[in-house]
Amino acid sequence: MKKIYIFLMVMAVFTAKAQDKVLAPTPPMGFMTWNYFGVDFTESDIKTMADAMVENGLVELGYNYICIDDGWQGGRDTKNNIIADPKKFPSGVKALADYLHKRGIKLGMYSDAALLTCAGYTASLHFEEQDAQTFADWGVDYLKYDYCYAPSDPETAKNRYKKMSNALRKTGRDIVFAICEWGDRFPWEWASQSGGQLWRTTADVRDKWASYAPTNQDLHREGAGIFDIFNANASLSNYAKRGAWNDPDMLVVGLYGKKGPSGDLGGKGCTDVEYQSQMSLWCLMSAPLMITCDIRTMNEKTKEILTNKDIIAIDQDKLGKQAKRVVHKNDWHVLLKPLANGDYAIGILNASSKTRTYELDLKAIGLDKKYDTYNVWTKERKENRRSIKVSVQSHETVVFRLSK
Ligand code: GLA
Repeated sequence: MKKIYIFLMVMAVFTAKAQDKVLAPTPPMGFMTWNYFGVDFTESDIKTMADAMVENGLVELGYNYICIDDGWQGGRDTKNNIIADPKKFPSGVKALADYLHKRGIKLGMYSDAALLTCAGYTASLHFEEQDAQTFADWGVDYLKYDYCYAPSDPETAKNRYKKMSNALRKTGRDIVFAICEWGDRFPWEWASQSGGQLWRTTADVRDKWASYAPTNQDLHREGAGIFDIFNANASLSNYAKRGAWNDPDMLVVGLYGKKGPSGDLGGKGCTDVEYQSQMSLWCLMSAPLMITCDIRTMNEKTKEILTNKDIIAIDQDKLGKQAKRVVHKNDWHVLLKPLANGDYAIGILNASSKTRTYELDLKAIGLDKKYDTYNVWTKERKENRRSIKVSVQSHETVVFRLSK
C-alpha cells in the first residue's frame, strides 16, 4: 500500500512538472529563411547557414534555432504523410535535423491552418495529428503556423490553432508553437490559450523604415517597416510574459534591400542606424530575434549589431517583461523595461528626420533614485545620474542599462 502511495506521489509530481514546463522561457532566437531566401533554398543553404552561425559565435550567444519557412514542402506520399521537396532536401529533413542538433541548433518548420500555405504549398488542415507526428519524428523543435486561406472569424482561428497545438503536445516532443495570423484577430488575447508560445502581432516586416500606414490592414497593403511594427507592438506590452511573447516579426538587420520577399512593397533597405534601432527596439520589447539576412556573408557592422551581448541580455532577461512606452511625444519614444536583477533598460528613439538632443528626467518616468548608466552601444558609463541627456540621430534608438 505504502509503495503504491509513494509511486502515485512521484507520478503526480512528475506530471505537474511536465505540465508546468515553459517551452520558450525567453524569446526564441535564431535564423528564419523567409525574408532572405523566400521559397528558394536547399538543405545545403541551411547547412552552410548553420555552419556560419556556429563560426560567428551566434549559436553561443543564444541564436539556437534555424526556422525553415514556407517552400520546403513536396506534397504528400501515398499514406498522406507530408514530405519535403526531394530536390531541395535530397537527404531528408531528419538528416538535416540531426546535422543541426549536433551543432547545438534546433530546427523550426512551417505550415498553415488551411489546405495551402501562403506561398501555395501543402498545408496541415485535416492532417494536424499526422503532420505533428511527422514533425516530431523528424526532430522538429519549433512550428510556425500560418493562417493564409483560412476563414477570417476569430473562433475558427482559435480552434484551428488549438487543434494543432494539441496535436503537437500529443507527440510528447517539446515543440514551440508560433502563431502567425498577423495580429488581425488580436491573438495577444487568446494565443496562449490556443497553445502558442509566441504570436505575430502585425503584417509582415519589410526591409524599410516606415510606410506610416494607419492600421494593420493598410500595412498589409503598403508593407510594414520597422517603425510601423514597433508602433503597433509597443502598445501590447501587458500581454507578454515568460513563455508568451508578442512577435513583431523577423529582424531585417543586414538585408540592405537584397533578395527575398521583404524587398517588395517598397522595401529597398535601411541604414545601419535603422538596423541598430530595430535590434534595440526588438530587444526592449522582448521580441523573438529571428535573423533573416545572409549570415554567411554579413558585413562587420551587421555582425556588430547582431552580436552585441548587452542588448541581447536585455532581450533575454529572465524577468520576461516587455518594455512599456513611457513617453510618446513630438516624435520621441521612450521605452522602460525592468530587469531581473533590479536594473532597468531605457530606450530613446528619435523618430523625426533630424538629429536632436533629448533630456530625460528619470523621476518623471518613476525612477526616483540616482543611477549609474551604461550605454549598451557606445559602452560609455556614467555614475550617479538623475537625468540622461543624449544626442540621438534620426531613426536612432539609444539604449542605456541603469543600475543603482
Ligand atoms: C506569411 C507570413 C510570413 C511568411 C510567409 C510565407 O506572409 O506572415 O512571415 O511565413 O507567409 O509564405
